Amino acid sequence: MSAEASPKRPIYLDHQATTPLDPRVLEAMLPWWTDDFGNSASNTHVYGWRAEAAVEEARERIAAVLGAESREIFFTSGATESNNLAILGVAESGRSTGRHIVTVETEHPAVLDPCRSLGNRGWEVTSLPVSSDGLIEPDQLSSCLRKDTVLVSVMAANNEIGVLQPIQTLASISREHGVLFHSDAAQAAGRVEIDVGGDTIDLLSLSGHKLYGPKGIGVLFVRQRRPRVRLTPRQFGGGHEGGLRAGTVPVPLVVGLARALELCVEERERESARLIVLRDRLYRRIRDSIPSVRLNGHPGQRLPGNLNLTFEDVDGAQLLLALNGLAVSSGSACASAKSEPSHVLRAIGLSENQAQASLRFGLGRSTTAEEIERAAEIVIGAVGRVGTPSDP
Ligand SMILES: Cc1ncc(COP(=O)(O)O)c(C=O)c1O
Repeated sequence: MSAEASPKRPIYLDHQATTPLDPRVLEAMLPWWTDDFGNSASNTHVYGWRAEAAVEEARERIAAVLGAESREIFFTSGATESNNLAILGVAESGRSTGRHIVTVETEHPAVLDPCRSLGNRGWEVTSLPVSSDGLIEPDQLSSCLRKDTVLVSVMAANNEIGVLQPIQTLASISREHGVLFHSDAAQAAGRVEIDVGGDTIDLLSLSGHKLYGPKGIGVLFVRQRRPRVRLTPRQFGGGHEGGLRAGTVPVPLVVGLARALELCVEERERESARLIVLRDRLYRRIRDSIPSVRLNGHPGQRLPGNLNLTFEDVDGAQLLLALNGLAVSSGSACASAKSEPSHVLRAIGLSENQAQASLRFGLGRSTTAEEIERAAEIVIGAVGRVGTPSDP
């Protein structure tokens, strides 16, 4: 695949940030940019009809993979938009029934920030803590639900430490209390099984570029029966997507997302097994040379390709600079852009220095055994070279 490292390019181990477009997905998308360029909302000619048919076919295929009905699949620009639409949309439409929302401290900013914005506008937001392995305790959810709770939002897989939350259990608890349940599955979709057919998950977000699909496309699953979830739209215009999300539907991206998701599911079992072997080898190689290394997140209940490690008594900023030849991330991409210690690592109990001295390795389809050997050597060499953190 095109993400292979070359003498000029570092080894790409940042598949939680984004993934390369699979060439098979590109192939599926190509005709929809050029020959079949119609607007799926044009209902007076064949250009529009063909585009509409492609969008509806893609919607059906995505629904089939997720265990949903096609009318429950709404296209957005990505998981950020899906999360905002789910959280703000439910809050607005449930305004008369309650003003309490529950989420978790380790969520992505695309969940935490809309919740924070609601908090600034009079909603009460409960952010549940996680234990040191990154998991939330189902009992804690039960005990914080109230009569005026309108939504629970818990991610399926964490983007930094890869931890898989027990979303089916949490969704059942929410359902028992009559509260809607949303999950940000941007990291989980395509990597672990996601099934919304179990009648407990009401809203689910996913993103094309995390699963070898195109950037700029996402999905929000919105349950349409038992119960029918009502959302107040966030953007208005031509009434696209059942009036929930106005804007011309990007046909090539939609076609690409459907193909990408199907490929992930077809290849998931084999690919997960392969990634687990590579990931565990990387961890073992590093731990054999640096016994003080700490694994962040639950050792087993995590994404197959995710490894998050803390190097004790190492200066994190220097470490990143010393990792020549390796594309990894320190905390999440968003956190490292702000270069603040990761809120996820802080939530599982790491100090600021420990959080700064942590690396996220995200393995993916292009990752080879040779790359893992080389990555281990680079990390071991870099940790040996850099100094201890200076006192703040
Ligand atoms: C868990 C999670 N949620 C949401 C997002 C945002 O997704 P998008 O880039 O599609 O807006 C990301 C991507 O970083 C993510 O990892």
